Amino acid sequence: MVDTFQFTPKINLEFTIREKDFFLAGESASRVKKTLQQLGMEQEIIKRIAIIIYEAAMNVAIHASHGMLRVFISPEAITIETEDAGGGIPDVDLAMREGYSTATHEIREMGFGAGMGLPNIKQCADELKIDSKVGTGTLLQATVYFTNWQEKH
Ligand SMILES: Nc1ncnc2c1ncn2[C@@H]1O[C@H](COP(=O)(O)OP(=O)(O)O)[C@@H](O)[C@H]1O
Ligand SMILES: [Mg+2]
Repeated sequence: MVDTFQFTPKINLEFTIREKDFFLAGESASRVKKTLQQLGMEQEIIKRIAIIIYEAAMNVAIHASHGMLRVFISPEAITIETEDAGGGIPDVDLAMREGYSTATHEIREMGFGAGMGLPNIKQCADELKIDSKVGTGTLLQATVYFTNWQEKH
């Protein structure tokens, strides 16, 4: 694994997430997936990265006003960051629980709001940091290391 990626260039990608934009999450996950496939990365890691991107971007579209999705790729790791303006998360530990969701009825009707996004991100990432300020917004940073996945999971 290390050999495969030691020549990986640093790549930064940035996407704007608008309120209720349910397409950006899937589109950005596909874009990054393609980039990582071109770098020859293992399918299993790519899958986990795509889940993180999709769930994090979806949360901004659904639960916040608007925000940015940033992806930082380096030879050692990939960091997925969402930064949004919105209501924030009053209790992050509670929000992390499987099945916990504040999604509206309307959102659930659309098939979202199962309350599994944050638990899935935690499961897929090596490191997860959530910094949220009620009434202001949320910064989420998830990192996947390319070298220690097998050791950790
Ligand atoms: N970016 C965000 N801004 C505000 N609240 C959020 C954000 N991300 C997550 N949350 C809160 O955490 C809860 C759990 O998120 P998640 O596990 O992704 O479930 P779901 O999105 O299906 O509700 C959400 O219902 C919401 O209350
Ligand atoms: Mg979610």
